[in-house]
Amino acid sequence: MATRSRTRFLVIGSGVAGLHAAWRASEHGHVTLLTKRTLFDSSTAYAQGGIAAALGAGDSPELHRRDTLAAGDALCDRAAVDVLVAEGPARVRELFAAGARFDLDPDGDFSLGLEAAHSTPRIVHAHGDRTGAEVASTLIERVRESDKITVLERARALELIVHDGSCAGARVSSTGAALEIIADATVLATGGCGQVYRYTTNPAVATGDGIALSHRAGVELSDMEFVQFHPTALDTPESPLMLISEAVRGEGAVLVTDGGERFMVGRHELAELAPRDVVAREVFREQQSGHRVFLDATMLGAEFERRFPGIFALCMARGIDPRTQRIPVTPAAHYMMGGVATDLAGRASLPRLFACGEVANTGVHGANRLASNSLLEGLVFAERVARAMIDIPALTGSVPERDWQVTPLVDRGAAQVAANAVRNVMWEHAGIARTDAGLRTCIETLDDIERRLPAGATEEANLIDTGRLIAESALVRAESRGGHFRTDHPKSRREWAGLHVRVVAHAGSEPA
Ligand code: FAD
Ligand code: SIN
Repeated sequence: MATRSRTRFLVIGSGVAGLHAAWRASEHGHVTLLTKRTLFDSSTAYAQGGIAAALGAGDSPELHRRDTLAAGDALCDRAAVDVLVAEGPARVRELFAAGARFDLDPDGDFSLGLEAAHSTPRIVHAHGDRTGAEVASTLIERVRESDKITVLERARALELIVHDGSCAGARVSSTGAALEIIADATVLATGGCGQVYRYTTNPAVATGDGIALSHRAGVELSDMEFVQFHPTALDTPESPLMLISEAVRGEGAVLVTDGGERFMVGRHELAELAPRDVVAREVFREQQSGHRVFLDATMLGAEFERRFPGIFALCMARGIDPRTQRIPVTPAAHYMMGGVATDLAGRASLPRLFACGEVANTGVHGANRLASNSLLEGLVFAERVARAMIDIPALTGSVPERDWQVTPLVDRGAAQVAANAVRNVMWEHAGIARTDAGLRTCIETLDDIERRLPAGATEEANLIDTGRLIAESALVRAESRGGHFRTDHPKSRREWAGLHVRVVAHAGSEPA
């Protein structure tokens, strides 16, 4: 029998969204914060470029709103974007006040970087290119100092507990032992799912758990076909791939082929600073035609090391000196725009369940996320979730106990083979360029991998379910838009503008 514990608020995940939600909710009740490795294992800790917020002279929430809507390609929820851009500056200032050491200019104002598709510099950063680590460690300190937050590391949520038509907490493997945490309100902040692809910038923890758990519990998901591929991951044989921030292009670096041709000029008016999906596809196109692609940042000279110390160090450790040598780059899965459909307070379709951060689909990103809008989204919507949870009444009655145990993974090798097979087929058929036939092959292959999955391979099962949701949704959307590109339907179709592919339980995907 599993051990049981009771909490007012259960937060699953320790990236920017989970940490912020836990910190703020703890002002109103006891919080249990779960994370499947350590508090610092998250995409958040890897973030380089920074946080977008209208803080600079000459900038405004209205300009930020316009850029976000333009990137989202007629699929953003305007009300959610309004919330993001209006509340964003206050959240960034609050984090600064909470101890985040953001880079400042000589006048003491935030030093602001430029990234693709932003009409003005508005990216707040820390230590040049270590923004995510600074955000994570600031929030971890706040969480650690609270006596209202119980932190469970190496505790992996396996299943949501659904009782009487609402979420009553989660079943968890806590260092291998079965644990049931009963909560008045549960927050999914489990991040993204880049690990479903062979090439990704996402850390090992990004296996789509929150998406798979929600789907199995009948929670509504939407826009799962919209995966963002970052154009400039460092092209090395490692996993995950290291990121070369877009901010490097923001400072003037250009993309060239192995023949030295600067190919983005003439393909988009913003050249290297075109929206991310456009640049990723063009890099991919060059690769498909047999070229290697490089980022040439040599014009920055010694400035490179000062502005991007983290990227400089990771390049040098791999034998590339970006001051004098071109950096080999390749596209990689980077961000999931879709996810658990939420309202403006982060409520999911299942009562007492909330979602925020990358696992959620608040509607702010539409078909394509504007660079550096996700740390901001994590802060803004985690705050809203924390406030909305105050009003959730305590659970009444008792939640029936179930006799269950954590199934140990007996054949780790077979699970690893399955995970790699998922990653390969997803990259091949549900990656940067998709077709009807390829997506069907992908779904069949995922079904086949699932049939051979060894007992206890729960994370791999999540990869399969998440991959299938991406492929099924991509099959339904017979057009190209934002991060979703179909070579058999290469144009956007007017009748699809504003339409979302919504998925509920195993009922299949339908446009709505
Ligand atoms: P995460 O930070 O990914 O945290 C998810 C947490 O959930 C982790 O702690 C994980 O261990 C935990 N978890 C997952 N499953 C379970 C489970 N079953 N049980 C318990 N815990 C679980 N965005 C920007 O805005 N600006 C940037 O500069 C930027 N740079 C980036 C660079 C890189 C290399 C990457 C990968 C992403 C970058 N992004 C950037 C995107 C951004 O970092 C993420 O979208 C954001 O940090 C997501 O935050 P989150 O809190 O939703 O999830
Ligand atoms: C980057 O620094 O290029 C990544 C920024 C982001 O993903 O928002």
